[in-house]
Amino acid sequence: MQEKKAFIHKMFSDIAPIYDRMNRLISLGFDNRWRRKAVSALVPAHRVLDLCAGSGDMSLALLEQNDFTGEVVLCDFNRDMLRLAKRKCSLKGRGRFADRTMLVVADAELLPFREEAFDGVTIGFSLRNLSNLEKLSTEIMGTMKKSALAVFLEIAHPENKIVAALFYLYFYKLVPAISKYLTAKEYAYSYLPDSLKDFPRQKELTSLFHRTGFPSVTSSNIWGGIWAIYVGDFEVRITVKEIRGSGVCPAGHKIGEAFRLGEGKLCVWAEHTLLPFVTALRFGGEIPWGEDSESVDVACSPLRQVQPRAMNWPGSDLSVSVY
Ligand SMILES: C[S@@+](CC[C@H](N)C(=O)[O-])C[C@H]1O[C@@H](n2cnc3c(N)ncnc32)[C@H](O)[C@@H]1O
Repeated sequence: MQEKKAFIHKMFSDIAPIYDRMNRLISLGFDNRWRRKAVSALVPAHRVLDLCAGSGDMSLALLEQNDFTGEVVLCDFNRDMLRLAKRKCSLKGRGRFADRTMLVVADAELLPFREEAFDGVTIGFSLRNLSNLEKLSTEIMGTMKKSALAVFLEIAHPENKIVAALFYLYFYKLVPAISKYLTAKEYAYSYLPDSLKDFPRQKELTSLFHRTGFPSVTSSNIWGGIWAIYVGDFEVRITVKEIRGSGVCPAGHKIGEAFRLGEGKLCVWAEHTLLPFVTALRFGGEIPWGEDSESVDVACSPLRQVQPRAMNWPGSDLSVSVY
C-alpha cells in the first residue's frame, strides 16, 4: 500500500505541470462541466472538504457557484499539486477566494481534522488512486457533521454495450497512445486506464460505501456511465413504525445515541394512548404522528453502533425499542 502511495505521489509531482491541459484534452473539455454538476449539491454547505484536491478544480467549481458562500479546505498529500491550486484560486478568484480557502497537506486516509469539522466533502477523480476505501470512509465519517453530504465524481464503467465499446477504444487504446506522443510522462497515462480496470463498478462501489458506514449512497451515471457521481448521505432514514403510550420524551435526553442505526428502524413503545408527537431529540425536531399514521420517515444521525436495545425514561411510561 505504501508503495502505491509513493508511486501516486511521485506521478502527480511528475505530471503537475501538464495535469490541467491533459485533463481538458482527455475529457474533450467536459471535465469541469461534470465537476460543476457534481458539486452543485454542496452549495448549501458552510465548510466543505475537497479531498485529493489536486490543482483545485473541484474547489473552484464550487467556489464559482454564485449561491455558494461557504469555505473550502483543499487537502492533498502532494504539495506540487496544491501549489497549482493556490495559484489558480488566487488568479480565478481575484482575491475573492483568499479568505474562503485553506490548503492542507495530508493523506486522505489519515485526516488531521477534528470531529464534525465539515458539512460537505468532495473527491474528484481520485477514488481510484486511494489504497483503502474502507479507511477513507472511516476517516471521512470521523470528520463530518451528521447532516453532511459527500459528493464523489469518478470515471466509471459504462453500462451500455455500445458506449462501453467506444469508451474502451478511446480510454484504453487512444488515450495512452496520444499521451505517449504528447507527453514525456507516458507511464502516468498508461496508469490512468490501468487504475480503472480493477476499480469497482458503480453498484459495487455504492455497496462498499454502504458497508463501510455511509447510511445511504446513490450513484448517477453521466453519458451512460463513462463518469459517475456518487452522493452519500450521512443521515439515516428511520421509520417510526409504532408509537404507543403517553408522555413526552424529555428534551435533551440522549436518545440520539439510540438512533444511531445501520438501516435501522425505530419503534417507540409505551403503554397507553397514541402520542401526538415524539421529539426526535437528535435534532430537537419533532416527528409528526397522528392517529391514522402507520409509519413516518425521519432523518437521524448516522450509524456507529447497531445494537438492538430498549430504553425507558424515568418518570414516564414511555419506552423505546430500537432494532
Ligand atoms: C486525479 S487528481 C484529482 C485532482 C482534483 N480533485 C481534480 O478534480 O482534478 C488526484 C489527486 O489526488 C491526490 N492524492 C492521491 N492519493 C492521495 C492520498 N492518499 N491522500 C491525499 N491526496 C491524494 C494526488 O496528489 C492528486 O493531486
